[in-house]
Amino acid sequence: MTLQLKPLHPLFAAEASGIDLTQAPTPEQRKAINAAMNQYAVLVWRNQPLSQAQQAAFALAFGPLDIGLKRIFKRPERMDDERLIDISNLNADGRIADRGTTKALSGFANQLWHSDSSFQDPRAAYSMLHAVAIPDAGGNTEFADLRAAYDALPQRTRDEIQDLSAEHFALHTRLLLGDEAYTEDQKKTMPPVSWPLVHTHPGSGRKVLFVGVHATHIDGWPIAEGRMFLADLLEHATQREFVYAHRWQVGDLVMWDNRCTLHRGRRYDLTQRRDMRRATVMDVPEALLDAV
Ligand SMILES: [Fe+2]
Repeated sequence: MTLQLKPLHPLFAAEASGIDLTQAPTPEQRKAINAAMNQYAVLVWRNQPLSQAQQAAFALAFGPLDIGLKRIFKRPERMDDERLIDISNLNADGRIADRGTTKALSGFANQLWHSDSSFQDPRAAYSMLHAVAIPDAGGNTEFADLRAAYDALPQRTRDEIQDLSAEHFALHTRLLLGDEAYTEDQKKTMPPVSWPLVHTHPGSGRKVLFVGVHATHIDGWPIAEGRMFLADLLEHATQREFVYAHRWQVGDLVMWDNRCTLHRGRRYDLTQRRDMRRATVMDVPEALLDAV
């Protein structure tokens, strides 16, 4: 079978089918998936009973894997493959984490609008999140289309941001949420990086308003002024008309392009298991070659 697509939102996001994700994609399939990602930015695959090894193998077809904040935290996790990222509310022993733990705090940080690993260089290209267990209610993941957000900006704002960049910092969300227990060594492990507020998405040629909660301030501006401008731009980018809300089913794999979307998890009952596993591909030149 070949790739089939059914749009899920007027601007972006589609349900994808016709390819068995338990097998590494052929070059033709990868090309078709990249083309679909360039158009839709978010693809939803239903009923994918992937093992961790299969999920990692599928992701590796698109580039080297990114482990993000694991470089700082180094805490024990449940993953068989350490390149996969545990987006669950579960401890290493499989039990539900206490709501006051740093594990739970990571879950709360995921509820802020962000682009995975925008705090590092290289940043993330695709992420692929697989649902193994979900709560009865809540816990949706929402995606915002940053290309549509750019398109909707007034020309005056486009001109204003054209040559601006923002600094992104790995621990900013943690600090915002009241967790300040980081050593200088941990902070130095992932120093801040700057990204232009506007960049051109290589696969589609469309301009992107690149904001998100990892951005701490605008380079060269007073912190407060830059932070408030970033907040305004984030509010613009996450208007409901630019947002697709994904209601999870067990077995879903959702893949998105972090270079042109933001996402956030939504609140749910923390006494229920939510087991999600993420593989993320770094945005490096040798990755996604046929996506451009
Ligand atoms: Fe994320």
